[in-house]
Amino acid sequence: MKITTADRLNGIGEYYFSQKLREIDELNKKGKQIINLGIGSPDLPPDPCVVKVLEEEAAKPNTHAYQNYKGNPAFRIAISEFYERWYGVKVNPNTEVLPLIGSKEGIMHICMTYLNEGDKVLIPNPGYPTYSSAVKLAGGQCEEYDLIEENDWEPDFETLENLVTCPRGEEREGAFKMMWVNYPHMPTGKQASVELFEKIVLFGKKHNILICHDNPYSFILNEKPLSLLSIKDAKDVAIELNSLSKASNMAGWRVGMMIGAKERVDEVLRFKSNMDSGMFLPVQLAASKALSLGKNWYDELNATYKERRELVYQLLGMLNCSYDKKQGGMFVWARIPQKYKNGYDLSDEILYNKNVFITPGGIFGNNGNRYIRVSLCAKAEVFLNALQRIASPNAAGVGA
Ligand SMILES: Cc1ncc(COP(=O)(O)O)c(C=O)c1O
Repeated sequence: MKITTADRLNGIGEYYFSQKLREIDELNKKGKQIINLGIGSPDLPPDPCVVKVLEEEAAKPNTHAYQNYKGNPAFRIAISEFYERWYGVKVNPNTEVLPLIGSKEGIMHICMTYLNEGDKVLIPNPGYPTYSSAVKLAGGQCEEYDLIEENDWEPDFETLENLVTCPRGEEREGAFKMMWVNYPHMPTGKQASVELFEKIVLFGKKHNILICHDNPYSFILNEKPLSLLSIKDAKDVAIELNSLSKASNMAGWRVGMMIGAKERVDEVLRFKSNMDSGMFLPVQLAASKALSLGKNWYDELNATYKERRELVYQLLGMLNCSYDKKQGGMFVWARIPQKYKNGYDLSDEILYNKNVFITPGGIFGNNGNRYIRVSLCAKAEVFLNALQRIASPNAAGVGA
């Protein structure tokens, strides 16, 4: 019997990290004890008060049923209060909020909701790989827009205008449907600014392109969290995804949210309500608690990341990489020295010779080829160990 996969999977590979983690597992089975500085999964726990709510609610007999597709009202209110308190954005909890099982699923749901076969979507290069796979799975066509260091990792709006406009200045009717944007940007750490968000909103309005802003990093190593929806009338053209994975240390819980105009929430819900049957109530209530935490929570988190970042700077110095110290988010993005062909070369060299894994920038698009990305999601001792291994003239340094 021959089983064939659907055509929509053509050109969609297994997620890079899922493959690489298998390789790292194999090396570990051979006793290598690889230090993994690749993936952005917080190693720290959520606040104990968050876990307490989960425990208490899960122990109750009446919290185990299917939940409302639109999320529990208490959670939706917590999300709207969070948006007003930190971003100054007023959101109607009944109509403009959609809880998600992680923002990654939201990316897929949005693509499935809006894209027809062949619709064009602007995606950042470099950028989070899920944007392009979700667009392709939904039948859309990816059109990359360049983010380069020389332009401070911002889109070049003149190039964008040329891309979406016909030579005679006519709009390519309906061709470009959506644009994915993400600031603080992963992987480059480029911070958001009001001016940049204004330009993006203006561009979306001018060309009738739905702007999808993915905003999971605004609280990490960033003094002033910013939402694209804080731009005047942004909801007319934009939706925003947010997540508790990074800033609340809840990546494994799978909690995120979409914020947008009532029409957008209703449209995405039409698709999503056919995919899942709501989120476990105790998770929603614990997530509400997490969203109510004050400045102290974020300050403590950032103090830890700052301390780790200093060690990462040392590590990058040893590798002769250069980097910008103004980056936000939970990674450091760094340019590799000339002697390497690309970031994959450097990454493989230290994986096989020093037993340390660092992400090659090329996995985020070819504009990342001359860069690597180091995650801050490891304890200081782990970074110290990695520093020793890299300093050591011998391969491995296992057990150091
Ligand atoms: C830019 C970006 N968006 C979205 C996600 C997914 O986050 P979530 O855990 O909410 O699905 C990630 C996770 O690495 C990310 O880097």
